[in-house]
Amino acid sequence: MPAIHSSLSFYMKPLFLSNSSLFPRKFTVPKEYLLNPRSLCALSSASNQNGGRSGARSLSPSPVSDDLQKIDVNPPKGTRDFPPEDMRLRNWLFHNFQEVSRLFGFEEVDFPVLESEALFIRKAGEEIRDQLYCFEDRGNRRVALRPELTPSLARLVIQKGKSVSLPLKWFAVGQCWRYERMTRGRRREHYQWNMDIIGVPAVTAEAELISSIITFFKRIGITASDVGFRISSRKVLQEVLRCHSIPEHLFGKVCIIIDKIEKLPLDVIKNDLKSAGMSEAAIEELLRVLSIKSLTELEEILGGAGEAVADLKLLFSLAEKFGYSDWIQFDASVVRGLAYYTGIVFECFDRDGKLRAICGGGRYDQLLSTFGGDDIPACGFGFGDAVILELLKEKGLLPPLNHQVENIVCALDHNLQGAASMVATTLRGKGQSVDLVLESKPLKWVFKRAARINAQRLILVGTTEWQKGMVGVKILSSGEQYEIKLDELE
Ligand code: HAM
Repeated sequence: MPAIHSSLSFYMKPLFLSNSSLFPRKFTVPKEYLLNPRSLCALSSASNQNGGRSGARSLSPSPVSDDLQKIDVNPPKGTRDFPPEDMRLRNWLFHNFQEVSRLFGFEEVDFPVLESEALFIRKAGEEIRDQLYCFEDRGNRRVALRPELTPSLARLVIQKGKSVSLPLKWFAVGQCWRYERMTRGRRREHYQWNMDIIGVPAVTAEAELISSIITFFKRIGITASDVGFRISSRKVLQEVLRCHSIPEHLFGKVCIIIDKIEKLPLDVIKNDLKSAGMSEAAIEELLRVLSIKSLTELEEILGGAGEAVADLKLLFSLAEKFGYSDWIQFDASVVRGLAYYTGIVFECFDRDGKLRAICGGGRYDQLLSTFGGDDIPACGFGFGDAVILELLKEKGLLPPLNHQVENIVCALDHNLQGAASMVATTLRGKGQSVDLVLESKPLKWVFKRAARINAQRLILVGTTEWQKGMVGVKILSSGEQYEIKLDELE
């Protein structure tokens, strides 16, 4: 390749007319910074003579008038900023959510973050209701920031009515708000990946959903020895309650109480169940069943004829076919904290037991009728962004994600800024990413920036070359350099 014309060095001169702050007095440009070693002399002499940073602004704070208030630069408690490095991680995570959903044939949907408060108010006294961010808007409507996506999904399914054909396989990634007590992996704002299947009554749907979560785990390097699913069915509880003639309408309430079994003392749980209308015998029976960890034992107690055992047996046999038996285990104590679940429920935890639930879901065949729609069988899961990032960090599995721009384009004379813009536009038109240097900067600065953004090529626009329709190219990994016609630049 021919070396860059010496005129590049000539045209570098005006670039440093006022660059004293970045150019030390006795400045030597490292050899690798230069396209043409002959330009070295021009560079250093220009910098020595002229110094000064063009366009540099004073960074000293401007005087603040007394009536201006200093703001707290931290985001509100429990919420997060996403500076570039965090945004790269979030995008990586969401990309994996989306790719897995695509692999399973799901379509993406979204809903407003602000919904009618009524959508989230259920009778059973769920924790999620106490955590609701709700307020009256300027039109006196009661509204809430969504704490979860499922009610919005149900609303949209009802709204779409017969215009959509079942089954629907929808996924969404959206921000949810809960006024939570802050713990590791629990915050006041989080993103949730949801996958839901609407219109399939069979357990094949739950098996497919669990398979999608496991596919996701495998993609990001999480194995069956890192995490495990605990699976049960709310029908287990239903059958116990039915045996003790507990009215159906108490079912949701009992589930909510049981969900707190690991968080509250047993006496408190027993008292709450008593207040909900359960007899001592029923409570004892319920607690005995909840401690079961084997399907065979469950079958011995409930008999093989009920739906609970049949559903669970089918799910575990499907798991074998999918090849994820070692990821899942039956655990009757899993009931989930949301009132609307009616069948299979599952949660996924880290095996070390250090973190809160990574994800959770289940079947909710009657949610739509609580909003005035026809009941359609449905199941799904929610998978938060916070716990999984904690787990990846713990396991050293966070991917290295650097800012990366393919090209850095720089004019060697401020008169050539327009030409550099043209070069950038041409490359971008060919699908190449370009960081265009927008001010006159010394080459040392340009090289530093190129390293920071992991640029592969430096494109220099110098006057003589530009007059010939050419630019200078330096491949930053190898140091190879050449001139090339702009229209041949790929
Ligand atoms: P959930 O168990 O309340 O279920 O939340 C699902 C997941 O969201 C949790 O396992 C956790 O990963 C994440 N999550 C929940 N709250 C927080 C929080 N405060 N901070 C960080 N992450 C959190 C639901 O929301 C159901 N709507 C899921 C579902 C979809 N069921 C059927 N379809």
